[in-house]
Amino acid sequence: MTEVKSATDPAVVPFDPFELKDVVGGNIRDPYPRLHELCRESPVHTGPIDMGEGADEPDPSRPPPVTVFGFEEVVQVLRDNETYSSGVYTDVMGMVMGRTILEMDEPEHRMNRALVAPSFRSKVLERWEEDLVALVVNELVDSFVDSGRADLVREITFNFPVQVIARILGLPRSDYPKFQRWALEITSVAANFERGMAASAALGDYFVDVMAERRSTPGDDLISDLVRAEVDGERLSDEEIYSFLRLLLPAGVETTYRASGSLLFALLHDRTQFDALFGDRALFAQAFEEVVRWEPPVTVILRRAARDAELAGVKIEQGADIALMIGAANRDERKYKDPDRFDMFRDQRQHVGFGFGVHVCLGMHLARMESRVALNTLFDRLGPFTLDPQAEAPHIEGMAFRSPLSLPVVFGAGG
Ligand code: HEM
Repeated sequence: MTEVKSATDPAVVPFDPFELKDVVGGNIRDPYPRLHELCRESPVHTGPIDMGEGADEPDPSRPPPVTVFGFEEVVQVLRDNETYSSGVYTDVMGMVMGRTILEMDEPEHRMNRALVAPSFRSKVLERWEEDLVALVVNELVDSFVDSGRADLVREITFNFPVQVIARILGLPRSDYPKFQRWALEITSVAANFERGMAASAALGDYFVDVMAERRSTPGDDLISDLVRAEVDGERLSDEEIYSFLRLLLPAGVETTYRASGSLLFALLHDRTQFDALFGDRALFAQAFEEVVRWEPPVTVILRRAARDAELAGVKIEQGADIALMIGAANRDERKYKDPDRFDMFRDQRQHVGFGFGVHVCLGMHLARMESRVALNTLFDRLGPFTLDPQAEAPHIEGMAFRSPLSLPVVFGAGG
């Protein structure tokens, strides 16, 4: 209970944000052999699935759940957003976030997405690249650059996305620690429900004041953009803006921190690809897409059947919950050659790591830009870093969310 109090306390006591890290991931090291096996059996399964830790008990009061492993089958579901509804997220996330675009179906989704989308176009994001993202990453690098060694998860990947969001929202610097704490507590709501709800309420209260200020004095920040946004005479209500801002925390922070960590992990384990990217930064785009294919930070997304349907010959009952295993789809042996290998030079680059269809990730251009700036800054400031031979070898773990827990490196005088 003490944690709940501290989340709502306006003078949040100093804390080590890293302590709240990774409570949602699970500790499976390599789920992919089992995912391949299941996909080979059938790209679509009905009933509970045993991922190696035992299957859940079936719930006789609900239609049997469905799990989709194949690439084409996942795309088919995401394309048909009338048969497969996103309303399932209302049960999963609605309580903590409020009503967000993630859980809306058409036409409500289209209208609401149109209001927030302009702020996330890659051209519009350019204004934040140098003054904001590069500044955040450089400040973080300043704190360890002289030591010759660092854990890049603890020092960089875990920290920069939340600071980038705080700056994009135009929050005062002195509020960053409490904002980061609420962000982490909301994101880990599945592990500690009361604490997550308390953080959500505290963040809501906090945004009431910020919004009032932006309405009277708009600035060059995302909240001011959202306050001004208008499509066909429609505007976002305050409540809609609070919900959207809450969604940005798990959607934009957890994912980017994990993807950038997995990219560094992949490069640190393949010197040829590390050197290629170090020497030619234009390769970043394909390296980033490849990591989101190879180790998508979110491996599963959800839908619910709005009517009876059939997928790859498997019957789906109206009301059935559907788990789309985008991690498995991204390594579908029918689509990719050598799917388990990280290869930024592969020909087949299409993937569903950012989803697909009307709900495709709204923040993907921001994720790409921030990760590019972070990696370039590391390359420029540290030189060609390598894994620390004296530290424990890092590994990627997790099930629904995956990434490395540490990335100990040496560089310069430390190398
Ligand atoms: C590598 C980083 C990221 C990955 C892999 C990722 C992945 C995804 C995926 C798979 C979805 C689709 C969910 C579904 O259809 O059920 C999604 C949606 C979304 N993402 Fe991302 N995301 C990333 C970064 C970001 C960032 C940086 C932001 C914003 C700051 C963001 C904001 C959103 C939003 C608002 C949605 C909901 C879109 C809608 O429902 O129309 N994401 N993301």
